[in-house]
Amino acid sequence: MERNWWKEAVVYQIYPRSFMDSNGDGIGDLKGITSKLDYLKELGIDVIWLSPVYQSPNDDNGYDISDYQAIMEEFGTMEDFDEMLEQAHKRGLKIVMDLVVNHTSDEHRWFVESRKSEENPYHDYYIWREEKNNWGSCFGGSAWQYDESRKMYYLHLFSKKQPDLNWDNPKVRQEVYDMMTWWCEKGIDGFRMDVISMISKTEEMPDGAGDGEYGEFGPYCMNGPNVHKYLKEMNEKVLSKYDLLTVGETPGVTAEQAKLYAGEDEHELNMVFQFEHVESQGKYGKWTDKKRPLPELKAIFSKWQTELYGKAWNSLFLDNHDQPRVVSRFGNDDPKYREVSAKMLATCLHMMQGTPYIYQGEELGMTNYPFESPADFRDIESIHAYQEWCESGKVSHDTFWPCMLFTSRDNARTPIQWDDTENGGFTTGTPWISVNPNYKEINAKQELADPDSVFHYYQKLIALRKQYPLIVYGKYEALLPEDENLFVYTRTLDREKLLTVCNFSDQEQRFRMPSEFVGGECLISNLSNDYRQEELVLKPYEAFVLHIG
Ligand code: GLC
Ligand code: CA
Repeated sequence: MERNWWKEAVVYQIYPRSFMDSNGDGIGDLKGITSKLDYLKELGIDVIWLSPVYQSPNDDNGYDISDYQAIMEEFGTMEDFDEMLEQAHKRGLKIVMDLVVNHTSDEHRWFVESRKSEENPYHDYYIWREEKNNWGSCFGGSAWQYDESRKMYYLHLFSKKQPDLNWDNPKVRQEVYDMMTWWCEKGIDGFRMDVISMISKTEEMPDGAGDGEYGEFGPYCMNGPNVHKYLKEMNEKVLSKYDLLTVGETPGVTAEQAKLYAGEDEHELNMVFQFEHVESQGKYGKWTDKKRPLPELKAIFSKWQTELYGKAWNSLFLDNHDQPRVVSRFGNDDPKYREVSAKMLATCLHMMQGTPYIYQGEELGMTNYPFESPADFRDIESIHAYQEWCESGKVSHDTFWPCMLFTSRDNARTPIQWDDTENGGFTTGTPWISVNPNYKEINAKQELADPDSVFHYYQKLIALRKQYPLIVYGKYEALLPEDENLFVYTRTLDREKLLTVCNFSDQEQRFRMPSEFVGGECLISNLSNDYRQEELVLKPYEAFVLHIG
């Protein structure tokens, strides 16, 4: 397997709106990020993935871009961006930009032109049809919007303010490559590519059956006919000219397909960011209030660890700006178990193969937000889901509400809790979305002062990855796959071996040490125990890692 810096790196995702506000308008901004670079350096991460900071009317918080080469006014100016980039580089931190090119905003110049008439030079920059089909959009309602001026329907797989670009048009592709080159010349260090598995659509667009994870459009828009051709072209024209980290957000991808997107010899992307382990198969689309049984979760992780080994590269994550908070979802956010379970989850993830992504606040063990009413939501997806499922009468409020609390993206979007002053130190003004009331107990200042905090635990996990190539390159093997409470696996590189044991339950669990690990060196654990014993009794959420060889 080839060794690459991006395989050895740890990425930290910033959702700028909620990271740090520098001017008291209640909205996080670029100067706020610059002011916290030392904090990130101290954590030990290598790369920052910046969720979109481009000009946007904010229908979907920046994922609807109206100018790819301008900064959103609320976030600052291009000078602020350049200063942030320079300050990051000075500290040895890289900046990866979010590349959202499946769609633009309907306020983008291209779309403003495109909707004018069929004679307009931009007329085929988007996907226009005389008639619509039965496809639903990811955010509810039809995926087609009738446009009064053009007198046709345009396709939008997300909101109607996010029209899908027509990637089959070579002019569109060239515009995208030119824009990417412009950012690369500026000195950025890579791209996270938003829903890149959806850019190529089939020519024919028949009604769909609607039973898959992505509804009616899935078979016609996911991993479409030309996606690999276009990514190879993008690689040749842009990516191959720079030393970048490139990660494709690839919802709905199988391990087989991932080997094409991120295969060692495919010349497309460095790695995929796939969702199988966080996809929910609830009765109401993605909305659920149930934890996935551990054997299922393990089977998914083990499949990806094994199938991509030596062939392609994956990302490691349990949350991001589209997912609820990891400790609430997979661990236990009761104050009694919050810290220990947050550390256990981090251990489980960070000892696997892949590039780890830490979503802002995860390193503090931040929790889901106690939303009280539908009016508390800011996220377009959550708002539409409530309308579509509850207000339409399909499901009762009492049934759907726990699913919203458990699954809403807004859980991850509440501001970072920096200290115990008002608004958790995020802003001196009124935050755009409420700060979690637990900021007095859970905040960065307190954790930086406590050597046993979740923050310092993450710092240690990151340092271990730098110290042991085994953690990056070792081969994964699952143990006890059927066990309902323990997640156990080994990693092997030449004569070195690692054993990771995680108790996912709130009960004590017995564990018999595999004989080869008896007497192994403990690299990290979230509780104190004597790991030289052959018969162990693990406390709730206990986790440890042993090293031999
Ligand atoms: C991706 C983003 C998500 C956004 C969507 C549409 O899934 O992560 O936040 O809403 O694409 O751009
Ligand atoms: Ca601000």
